[in-house]
Amino acid sequence: STFKIAGICGSLRKESYNKKLILRAQKLCAEHVKGATINIIDWSKLPVYNQDDEVDPPQSVLDFRKELADHDAILIATPEYNWSIPGPLKNALDWAEGAGITFNVTTGEKEPRPIGDRGQVFAGKAVAIIGASIGSAPGSPGSGRAQLALRQALIFLDMIAVNQPSVTISDASNAFKDDGSLTNERFEINIIKVLQNLVKLGKQLKTKPE
Ligand code: FNR
Repeated sequence: STFKIAGICGSLRKESYNKKLILRAQKLCAEHVKGATINIIDWSKLPVYNQDDEVDPPQSVLDFRKELADHDAILIATPEYNWSIPGPLKNALDWAEGAGITFNVTTGEKEPRPIGDRGQVFAGKAVAIIGASIGSAPGSPGSGRAQLALRQALIFLDMIAVNQPSVTISDASNAFKDDGSLTNERFEINIIKVLQNLVKLGKQLKTKPE
């Protein structure tokens, strides 16, 4: 059966370079990674997180969780906002997990909530991070600092991240051709490698004994 990757773009901007990047990854996946497909998830309707709403989360949250739970791995394309990840992206991740991991007040034991519409959609899954930015300083690291910040959040979500190669696209406004491909072919090669590594890691994690 098809290995399903949920694609999350960290920018909601209409002309987003990270949207272009994840669309390119989707195409490269279809062309070069056998048996895998990327579905881009729309999370634009999520409200601002409020733990009070956890008891009865809005439908947009339930839909988002269900969609993520239905995928084998995650691909995130993140912009860099002030050397970190965009607030809206963090908001989406917080909603996806919800108060998914709770602690029993008497025993102190971790009490995971059921997988599916009530959180715990990330634990044990493989994730890959890519990103593009327009740094104002020459030699800008192309979302690299945001990617590192994102990794930190993914640790607690118990996701296992692909480490290599890195896809950090600087000077994003000059990085894409009109047909959506990347001017620098090295990026295309590395995106394919990242996707291959994501699928390989994801399959290993799925077959791991309990
Ligand atoms: C930015 N940008 C930016 N770029 C960067 O390389 N490092 C940074 O720290 C920041 N900080 C930052 C903060 C905020 C609030 C905005 C709106 C932008 C510029 C950013 O890379 C550029 O806007 C990209 O085009 C954003 O990605 P999308 O929307 O094109 O995917």
